Amino acid sequence: TEETHAVIILFGGSGDLARRKLYPAMFGLFRRGQLCQHFAVIGTARRPWSDAYYREIVSAAVEDEPGATAGQVAAFASHFYYQSHDVTDAAHYTTLKDLAAKLDDQYAVGGNRLYYMAMAPSFFATIATHLKSEALLTSTGFNRLVIEKPFGHDYASAKELNDSITATFDEHQIYRIDHYLGKEMVQAILALRFANPLFKAVWNKDYIQDIQITLAEAVGVEERAGYYEGAGALRDMVQNHIMQLVAYLTMAEPAAKTAAAIHEVKSAAFEALHVYTPAEAAANFVRGQYAAATINGTRINGYREETGVAADSLTDTFVAGKLGVDSPSFAGVPIYVRTGKRLRRKSTQVTVTFKPTTSGLFAGAAPTNLTLYLEPHQGYSLFINGKQLGTTTALMPEELKYRHDPHAAANAPEAYERLIGSALAGDETDFTRWQEVAAAWHFVDAIAAGWADDPTMPTYPAGSMGPSEAFELLAKDGHQWFWQP
Ligand code: BG6
Repeated sequence: TEETHAVIILFGGSGDLARRKLYPAMFGLFRRGQLCQHFAVIGTARRPWSDAYYREIVSAAVEDEPGATAGQVAAFASHFYYQSHDVTDAAHYTTLKDLAAKLDDQYAVGGNRLYYMAMAPSFFATIATHLKSEALLTSTGFNRLVIEKPFGHDYASAKELNDSITATFDEHQIYRIDHYLGKEMVQAILALRFANPLFKAVWNKDYIQDIQITLAEAVGVEERAGYYEGAGALRDMVQNHIMQLVAYLTMAEPAAKTAAAIHEVKSAAFEALHVYTPAEAAANFVRGQYAAATINGTRINGYREETGVAADSLTDTFVAGKLGVDSPSFAGVPIYVRTGKRLRRKSTQVTVTFKPTTSGLFAGAAPTNLTLYLEPHQGYSLFINGKQLGTTTALMPEELKYRHDPHAAANAPEAYERLIGSALAGDETDFTRWQEVAAAWHFVDAIAAGWADDPTMPTYPAGSMGPSEAFELLAKDGHQWFWQP
């Protein structure tokens, strides 16, 4: 791995995301050598911490990584510096700039800067504006902005945020995070679709009956009601992760394995999303909220009983819908998506069902399908119509199955490690472009508008697979959710 020289300025250095994901990811890059001698991280947040205390926090966040040695942890943590910072105070940016310049000298970084926004999104615009007005961007080396979700609350607020960051950074300096794009099995879609003539030939409306995407979570809202109450499953999971999967599954073959070529076809896929009228949205998208249930003798709170949630909350913790893309190869193929909290178990999967044969020897045979398992297992199952064993010509579904070895999969770099590594290396492939974000918001805003006048909120028992409306949605098309462990 080639070493990247950089000063990383992390807004939100004391936060949960930094501890749970970003420090372990940077530690992984350190152990792989992409971060080595020539880097420093300035963590900023409001609290007045010392460097020593900050290093303890960073060490604690990484010391349990498999195989970590005390020496490695200490060497890694020695690159971290803390600067207490009020994001609205211009003078603080000058302090930050001076510290960055000093560390740049000390570590011979050459002017490279990665600004990482991992704090409450209400501050993103303020920070970007001050980075410009206080002239933090260097004239030698690269200046890149990594920005976490949520990227706005709707199209209008996303546009406003985008305008404020593009006043400081140009599109190619902006790395918008959607951590699903760092996942192994999302990155594997390109190979599956385009390295296999078998699938390449049938990946279109002539052969595909429907596509299903399930992002099921077992956890509830956890400690995040403050954010989630205002977002809900539609904004939290559909606008970003599900839409990115839809684009990867329906886009045309890129002309090259480059960021530019991939974003070109991906943007076209986003543009092809069929945006609903409010009436169509209400007919094609359903929502739900988890209700209390007792699972294995333990009572699980309903959403409205969770800390920080309004007793009459209308926030969706579950969404299921049918969407379509108006591209020549996919027009008319239903794409069913669903996601929710407090579902039966954590499971992320995509199933592509192929049309049954309608003529010849086996006319009327069952449809066949291919499932991609993203998490917790990683791999594929292809169900084919096989012949039953014995003196018969009757058919039976047979499964061709591959799963990555769980141990090897656990040792492969985690999504954040891949993404931060890419941002440091200047590879824009796995980040979202503004055009994609904007198109996804137009789509999602239409769904939200379709629900706006409807005060009813279907519920589902915690631990189930969502409200009955989600099953009826497919049943009325003569389809059903595919689900297997
Ligand atoms: C995040 C959402 O983007 O994705 C969370 O904000 C959700 O609510 C998480 O739990 C799920 O990610 P993963 O990687 O566990 O599927």
